[in-house]
Amino acid sequence: MREERWAISVAVLACLVVLLAWNVTIAEEESMPEEIVIDHSVYQPDRKGPVYFSHLAHYDDYDVVCEDCHHEYKGAENVWTEGDPVKKCETYHDPSESKGDIKKLRIAFHNNCKSCHENLFKANISEDAPYRNCYNCHERES
Ligand code: HEC
Ligand code: HEC
Ligand code: HEC
Repeated sequence: MREERWAISVAVLACLVVLLAWNVTIAEEESMPEEIVIDHSVYQPDRKGPVYFSHLAHYDDYDVVCEDCHHEYKGAENVWTEGDPVKKCETYHDPSESKGDIKKLRIAFHNNCKSCHENLFKANISEDAPYRNCYNCHERES
């Protein structure tokens, strides 16, 4: 009898842990828009079309953690964590010039998006993460 109760307690506890983890995941996903059209209007000239970005899929399906993209540096350390407010990249990354370590907006995006994709390609992990063909990211403008 005792053993049975113990087993039930363990089972209940395991369920709680699973539920809790599930809840946390849901909370994270709710706080992130599923798709984002990256189309800042701050460039002069604005040469390329908007970029449709599968925000949620990057986290959910491609296992990229928030902190690989969202960052706020104190010294060399990224102190941004989930739940912190997200500011527009252009708040820090000037569209027309790099300032010290803070790369200008286009370069910051290309460094983040393209570098990861290129590394995946070179490591034979993915052939579908675009980094060479501009129009696999940028919408063609007519
Ligand atoms: C992995 C996706 C990706 C690829 C591949 C890519 N870009 Fe981009 N690019 C972006 C993102 C994201 C931005 C930021 C757009 C914004 O801020 O509105 C950007 C911004 C730009 C900008 C500045 C914004 C503008 O419209 O003037 C230019 C110019 C640009 N890219 C040119 C290129 C060229 C040329 C290529 C191909 C050699 C290329 N990109 C390939 C994702 C990509
Ligand atoms: C692969 C890169 C990447 C990952 C991973 C990522 N994000 Fe984002 N996120 C972006 C980009 C790019 C933007 C748009 C920034 C801009 O418009 O300047 C954004 C915007 C946001 C915004 C603001 C949306 C708005 O309406 O302004 C929130 C909130 C956010 N992300 C939360 C998260 C959370 C939480 C995670 C992890 C669970 C996450 N992101 C993972 C790249 C990413
Ligand atoms: C840390 C790694 C990483 C970063 C950073 C990253 N990606 Fe990706 N991206 C991936 C992976 C993994 C895939 C899936 C490749 C596959 O399906 O084999 C992918 C796929 C894509 C695809 C094609 C499939 C789809 O879902 O549309 C696009 C477009 C794309 N990424 C755009 C972007 C843009 C724009 C950014 C920057 C804002 C970005 N990525 C940043 C890892 C990354």
